[in-house]
Amino acid sequence: MPETSHDVSQLTALILAAGKGTRMKSALPKVLHRIAGEPLIGHVLSTVERLGVARTVVIVGHGADAVRAALPDAVQTAEQREQLGTAHAVLQASPALAGFSGEVVILSGDVPLLSPETLHAMLSTHREAGAALTVLTFRPEDPSRYGRIVRDSEGHLSRIVEYKDATDAERAIGEVNAGVYLASWPQLVSALEGIGNDNAQGEYYLPDAVTALNAKGLVVAAHATDDPIEVAGVNTRLELVALAQAYQERAARYWLEAGVTIESPHTTWIGPRVTLGEDTVVEAGVQLHGRTRVGSGCLVGAHSQLIDAQVGDEVTILQSYLSESMVGDRTIVGPFAHLRNGAEIGSRCRIGNFVEVKGSVFGDGAKASHLSYIGDATVGAKANIGAGTITCNYDGERKHRTEIGSGSFVGSNNTLVAPLKIGADAYTAAGSTITQDVPDGALAFGRARQAVKLGWAMQRKGIKQ
Ligand code: UD1
Ligand code: MG
Repeated sequence: MPETSHDVSQLTALILAAGKGTRMKSALPKVLHRIAGEPLIGHVLSTVERLGVARTVVIVGHGADAVRAALPDAVQTAEQREQLGTAHAVLQASPALAGFSGEVVILSGDVPLLSPETLHAMLSTHREAGAALTVLTFRPEDPSRYGRIVRDSEGHLSRIVEYKDATDAERAIGEVNAGVYLASWPQLVSALEGIGNDNAQGEYYLPDAVTALNAKGLVVAAHATDDPIEVAGVNTRLELVALAQAYQERAARYWLEAGVTIESPHTTWIGPRVTLGEDTVVEAGVQLHGRTRVGSGCLVGAHSQLIDAQVGDEVTILQSYLSESMVGDRTIVGPFAHLRNGAEIGSRCRIGNFVEVKGSVFGDGAKASHLSYIGDATVGAKANIGAGTITCNYDGERKHRTEIGSGSFVGSNNTLVAPLKIGADAYTAAGSTITQDVPDGALAFGRARQAVKLGWAMQRKGIKQ
């Protein structure tokens, strides 16, 4: 990401997300529909995060509780109970921003691909012009539903007219309002408090602030972008998929240019908050979501899915599912492993096929190579867990921990009944059910002794020998 070229320490982001999204035909609020595993509103938050704003206020309305629940704690919300228009929506932030005299950047929660670079360019225009308000504009192929940008004879932005209120001559204007604004918060508020809703939709229009601020003799600027994808909004599932494809291409290009091999860009999903190190190879069908970080020189094998995973350098992950987990350098995971709920795997470990690790810590060099469930356990460095071992961490009411000492050897097909402590350099015999602690260096058996009945098969058939 480029260095911040403007001081944004006083900048507040306002994200409008109260609308219903009727055309999605969905019980889910529109801004919670996903692209690359990230809700649309998460894409917008990632943009303002990368821009480096001081704080963010999201205007919620339809599905307010669900939207709030999807937001990080640091993000404030203000509720717009009735959707009376975009100007009304912005004013709902007034209590949250009481006494704030800086700048706001206003964005829509359903416009996911806007880049921090475009907002930086817009900030340049805004500050160089000494503007009270700057509007982002563009020229879409089909400008039908957008507000038209009306300029005066000197080319200054004089007003914005909504399509439904526009004359035929105004409808012929190709430049439109992208719905992204920069403004001085006190000046914007005083302008918005004076506007009415006497228009075709009976709504309080945010773009009417242009007229109001011009009337006060303040500077209103327009900043044009030539990338329609960045300002495209999602209104239907068709548009969601089209923008998802555009996002996917952009994300793949970004990482390819950053030194990451994306073998099959059109089958790979890399969320906006993911980071990848140089010389990492991402194979076909991989999904990298949330705050996943993968170091350098790794292989993320085909069809792996990583959600909020932290992966070190030179790690190999083969067709596995990792969520909220950490993996240290040079560890090999999979194929078909499942790491979840705070699994912390050290370096040079081995988590093999059909091994599930939940809420457990593996010290460096520890191994569980085949067919195991390791839950709520601490596995010491270089311990080896035999095939088919299960930690019985749940007694039907509570979860209990299992401690496995460093250098210990848990035999194949062990049942480890927690709470349990196996000491350092201890051994347990194959097929054991271990219910009592095993001291350091000891060998524990916990299985029925084998009996052998000679000649039993012949006797059964009644044949005397
Ligand atoms: C708006 C602009 C239009 C611009 C277009 C760009 C107005 C009046 N018009 O039109 O000039 O070309 O965006 O996409 O602003 N929202 C609320 N509360 C409300 C109304 C809307 O939170 O009461 C939110 C919506 O959820 C959405 C955003 O504001 O995220 C824009 O609203 P929308 O109804 O899509 O405005 P448009 O009619 O598209
Ligand atoms: Mg819209």
